[in-house]
Amino acid sequence: MKCSYTKPALLAMVFMVTMVATAFGQGTRVGFYSKSCRQAESIVKSTVESHFRTNPAIAPGLLRMHFHDCFVNGCDGSVLIDGPDTERRAPQNSLLRGFEVIDDAKRKLEAVCPGVVSCADVLSLAARDSVVLTKGINWKVPTGRKDGRVSLQSDASSLPSFRSSIDSQKQQFARFGLDTKDLVVLVGGHTVGTAACLVFSYRLNNFTNGGPDTTINSSFLPQLQALCPQNGNNFRRVDLDTGSANKFDTSFFTNLKNGRGVLESDQKLWTDPSTRTIIQQLLGEKGLKRLNFNKEFARSMVKMSNIGVKTGSNGEIRRVCSAIN
Ligand SMILES: *[C@@H]1O[C@H](CO)[C@@H](O)[C@H](O)[C@H]1NC(C)=O
Ligand SMILES: *[C@@H]1O[C@H](CO)[C@@H](O)[C@H](O)[C@H]1NC(C)=O
Repeated sequence: MKCSYTKPALLAMVFMVTMVATAFGQGTRVGFYSKSCRQAESIVKSTVESHFRTNPAIAPGLLRMHFHDCFVNGCDGSVLIDGPDTERRAPQNSLLRGFEVIDDAKRKLEAVCPGVVSCADVLSLAARDSVVLTKGINWKVPTGRKDGRVSLQSDASSLPSFRSSIDSQKQQFARFGLDTKDLVVLVGGHTVGTAACLVFSYRLNNFTNGGPDTTINSSFLPQLQALCPQNGNNFRRVDLDTGSANKFDTSFFTNLKNGRGVLESDQKLWTDPSTRTIIQQLLGEKGLKRLNFNKEFARSMVKMSNIGVKTGSNGEIRRVCSAIN
């Protein structure tokens, strides 16, 4: 069958489709740079790959950085801005890693298509590439975010904490239109993460009534105590998914089920019945509607990466990711 639309009719259709996509995707769309900077996505990918080869820790680092960017003033690259009193200087962001990867990708992009690709998009693409590199799912990242011009240390207080209750985690996600399933699935990104002793060692000794956190598996407790001894190195990094830290899989959830969560906020996902059911679904337990972790992760990441996207004159395309133009 031969289609016989006139050129103006076709253009009008393309325009309408774009408008609808814009309305739903808050200004982003897949392939935004396909004409303006054809190599944009491949440049980001090869840059992330080359850094990953020498330092695999950048994969969870970039994933976490994207999350920290989106939860504070939307996904606008505000976390990348450096300087006194910026988000990046907030205690919640003191352990972020991978800035050099974003800067490197941006430098390469500026050499090929100056002033075209936003830092917010570089970060969103790099987060996806990180998941792919750790053998997780590949998905199409909608792009077209502008970079924000504001970055305030005090705004970072809106980030969930490693001590947050499930109710407060739910509230913090709901503010951005993310539901309980998104919460569980996105925290599942910890399948490739690590945490410094300082964010969980309080659970190991004097937590409740002078003893350790009773939700920690009794055979796991001495392992954690050995990794993070009292008066030891608080910055030592411990895998959040013991036994499968370099692979993007559901073993993180199995660990939570077995009381082998490292962060208090992670382990609570199993303690709380509302989030436990979702974990059981992700683990494919009998009698429950099965959820595919990889598919759900891609879906929730797209949702998250559309939080507070800036378009038009609400933002800019930064020349250097660490500074406002
Ligand atoms: C445990 O913590 C409580 C409350 O912070 C404190 O009063 C107590 O002295 C601590 N016990 C030990 C053995 O450190
Ligand atoms: C403790 O961990 C082991 C190994 O993962 C597991 O077999 C066991 O069921 C866990 N115990 C509890 C109470 O979850």
